[in-house]
This record gives sequence, structure tokens and C-alpha cells, in this order.
Amino acid sequence: MAACAGRGRASDWPGACFTPIFCGKTCIGQANVERSHSLLLPLLPPRPPRPPRPLPVDPRAPTRAHTTLQSKTHRDGQFLGKGSQKTVHAQERNGTMVAIIKSQTHDLTMEATLVTTIAEHAPHPHVMKLLGLEFGASSRVSMVAPIALFGSMLELVDGLEFEGLEISHVHKQVVFAQILSAVLHLNGVGIEHGDLAARNILVFNYDPCDPKSTDVRLSDFGDARVGQTPASAMLRLARELADL
Ligand SMILES: Nc1ncnc2c1ncn2[C@@H]1O[C@H](COP(=O)(O)OP(=O)(O)OP(=O)(O)O)[C@@H](O)[C@H]1O
Ligand SMILES: [Mg+2]
Repeated sequence: MAACAGRGRASDWPGACFTPIFCGKTCIGQANVERSHSLLLPLLPPRPPRPPRPLPVDPRAPTRAHTTLQSKTHRDGQFLGKGSQKTVHAQERNGTMVAIIKSQTHDLTMEATLVTTIAEHAPHPHVMKLLGLEFGASSRVSMVAPIALFGSMLELVDGLEFEGLEISHVHKQVVFAQILSAVLHLNGVGIEHGDLAARNILVFNYDPCDPKSTDVRLSDFGDARVGQTPASAMLRLARELADL
């Protein structure tokens, strides 16, 4: 994807070899080429801190932050999300709550086949996996996936913002590094995701005190095609994450 120019050592990572990643003349980060999971340190400056928000009136009252950060249960039929093509609900299957992804307007067969093929032949820890497929009365395919407990990156940040909290710069770096690793992997098998965006990054684990435990997966392969993700798409994603 990126045209790499030069190699250097980052003093704060002894022993690691960093390759700057350039988009045109702009360096968007450094990949540790000696680690299987490239660690990208975006060079975009952190946003200035937001002005403090007022605290909830009663700090003991249950808040949406509790829901966002602590609730690990979903009820049958609960709405999980909606995009331009698909609608997602939690439903119980064999005693487990799963995400059922449907579309009234688009046939999901191609997307489901692609995601299943990637999982079988080129799995990656930060690329979405399916648990199975279902066929509805209209013969439309629905995808069955594990539930991302924190929704998409957008929903996680919205939930935090509602409480006057925000996601740290370090968490964003971890998210970006995981998605970069997924994109480089997909480039290796000749797949361009085609719609890299925070709303298409699902958050399976988030701990405000432990950025390293963050676990995200790249999802929504509705616009995927044969090819390679250009560095410009990664730069756009870096900017979007930096602005969240
Ligand atoms: N496994 C999941 N667990 C929890 N929420 C999910 C899951 N899959 C999808 N969602 C939610 O549903 C939303 C829509 O899903 P998806 O991105 O696949 O639909 P889309 O219509 O293709 O979106 P787009 O508008 O990006 O094209 C996601 O942004 C996310 O909020
Ligand atoms: Mg989407």
C-alpha cells in the first residue's frame, strides 16, 4: 500500500525497527516491521483537550456510561445498529445471543461469501468473522455474527461523550494499529475493503484503563473488491479517528 521511504530506529522502542509510511509527501506513521502486528504511531497531532462537561446531577444514578462500559447482555430482538444497507438486531440462537445482519434492499450473498472465504483461507484477528448464514422467507441471506459489545467505534465514542468522557489518544492508536494490520493482511490476499470508516470498525473490548486490551475488528465488506487499499484511505481513517 504505502510507498516506504527509509528505515529508522525509534528511541522509545529499543530494538524495534520502524519504517515510516508515506502518503505522497506526508508521513502518516511508522510501522514496526519486526513485529507481526505492525504498530503504527500516527504522527497526527493529538486534538486539544475538550472543555470539561458538567457531571451528571446524581453521581450514583445509573448512566449511559454504565450501559456502554459495563452492560454485557442484550435482549432478544434488541436493535444493534443500522447502516445505509443493513439493519442489525440481537437474537438468540442455540442459547447464545448473536447479531443477525439483514438487508431489505441488498442481496448479502456476495458479502457473506467473501467474509466466509477470508475466515476460512486467510483469517485475521482483526477482520470480522461470521458464525453462519440464514435464509429468510424471502430467500434473502442474513449473516450471523458475534455481537460487538461496544458497537462500532462511533457508538463507543458517542456513548462516552454522552457522559462527558472521551476515548484516549493511546486507545485510538491501538485501534488504528489493529485496523492497519487487518488492511495489510487483506492487501496481501488482494482484497480492498472499500469503505474504511469508524462506523465499520466494531469494538469487541474496551477498557478505559487498559488500552492494550482493546479489541476491534474491521467489518462491513459490502463495498469490498479485488485490489489493494490505497494509503490515502488509511490516512482518511487516521484523520477520522483523530477527530473522534
Ligand atoms: N456484529 C455486530 N455487533 C454489534 N453491532 C453491529 C454488528 N454488526 C453491525 N453492527 C452495527 O450495525 C451498523 C450497520 O452495520 P453495517 O456497517 O454492516 O451496515 P451497512 O448498511 O453496510 O453500513 P454502511 O452505511 O457503512 O454501508 C454498524 O455500524 C454497527 O453499528
Ligand atoms: Mg457500515
